[in-house]
Amino acid sequence: MPIDPASRRQFLAFLAASPLAAAAGIDRDWLARLGSSTADDDAVLGAAESMSYRAAGTHAVLQPPLIANASDALDVFDFEGVAKQNIPVAHWGYLMTGTDDDGTIAANRAGFDRYTLKPRRLVDVSTIDASVSFYGTRYASPIVVNPLGSQKGFHKDGEIAVAKAAKAKDHLMVLSTVATTSIEDTIAARGGPVWFQLYHQSDWSITKQMVKRAERAGAPAIAFTVDLLGGSNRETMIREARKDTRDCIKCHLGGAPLPGVSGRVDDRDNRRKPNLVGYEKLPPQLEKGTPTWEFVDRLKQSTSMKVWLKGIVTQEDAALAVEHGVDGLFVSNHGGRAENSRRATIVSLPDVVQGTGGRIPVICDGGFRRGTDVFKAIALGATAAGIGRPYIWGLGAFGQEGVEAVLAILRKEFELTMKQSGTPTLKQISARHIAPA
Ligand SMILES: Cc1cc2nc3c(=O)[nH]c(=O)nc-3n(C[C@H](O)[C@H](O)[C@H](O)COP(=O)(O)O)c2cc1C
Repeated sequence: MPIDPASRRQFLAFLAASPLAAAAGIDRDWLARLGSSTADDDAVLGAAESMSYRAAGTHAVLQPPLIANASDALDVFDFEGVAKQNIPVAHWGYLMTGTDDDGTIAANRAGFDRYTLKPRRLVDVSTIDASVSFYGTRYASPIVVNPLGSQKGFHKDGEIAVAKAAKAKDHLMVLSTVATTSIEDTIAARGGPVWFQLYHQSDWSITKQMVKRAERAGAPAIAFTVDLLGGSNRETMIREARKDTRDCIKCHLGGAPLPGVSGRVDDRDNRRKPNLVGYEKLPPQLEKGTPTWEFVDRLKQSTSMKVWLKGIVTQEDAALAVEHGVDGLFVSNHGGRAENSRRATIVSLPDVVQGTGGRIPVICDGGFRRGTDVFKAIALGATAAGIGRPYIWGLGAFGQEGVEAVLAILRKEFELTMKQSGTPTLKQISARHIAPA
């Protein structure tokens, strides 16, 4: 539906006054000028809107035209509007929420603008190798399909579609504890190793059984998520859930999330969470307090899988992780859903890499939407980069085909950046290929 120029101008004026524009690195004076102009030039106003929306990389106040097919997409944002149309509003809120005012989501995106590219010329880039290897398996690209809960809430095929896309495009996939598909079925659909993300349970005997189950299923590594141990305040999720008129009790015990309740799926609500059920009723071993480094030691001792921590953002914790024998780190703020730190993960990355002293691999996630973002992370010392929402936009929009298209677009953009930068292999990408903005 065409949007009238007056509403467009109003929106641009609003955006010019909003901190979002600054956080997203958009020239606010330029927006203000457009907002107060009387021009009815649809193309100029539309481009400004689209740019603002894409740069912010978050809630679309106004959407670009929707694509009809996955193959029509030019970038990953093209899937967002279609997914929004298809996904029930409460689930959309769960996907898009950050914490408090969602400022850390914008910060994650804006962080990439702190770095510019310094491309080198006259290097033979006719052959590119973007592959990365973890524990004996080589993947075509360093773009990781990060763990993300409840995927059948976005598309009926959920994690199975994602696993098949990860197989088709040859990516590492990490499955969430609160997935709507079991680790066994996901590994079968992926046709290769899938890592398991771990949310600990209040009873250690259950946590241990979950870990053993992932090990038996063939997961080579677990990623223990440590960035939500104190809880999080997800206002956007609650606001969107209030707009949903469907009967939530059909799927969720207890119905829609209540104000002040994060909506986290716990033991009361595991009917659609196969990784949380089916464990032996052993004498409970209840945790005292929330996990500390002692828990990490226990985890390491309880499994032969590699143990990664997900949610490390400081040099100090990275150094401690190495001391405790951790095998790898995700630099992550849970896609802006943990504390509202307003510190981009790409900004935390160099600290973490320094803390590890290069002794263990690091995957950085949070706001990755472009191949250039991935390039900057590799240049700053990451082994790989993780994506969350973009592949769910693909899933919600077009199922497996959409996920495949998102992965293909990001890979194409990344490889183009490698070629243009004169870095035909990942090893060749260094801090010298970027500079502070
Ligand atoms: C809807 C949603 C659900 C998520 N569920 C999990 C989860 O179950 N376990 C986990 O460790 N991280 C989870 N994450 C965090 C992602 O693994 C990842 O850190 C984040 O999405 C990356 O940011 P991006 O969405 O901006 O790409 C979730 C993120 C979103 C958006």
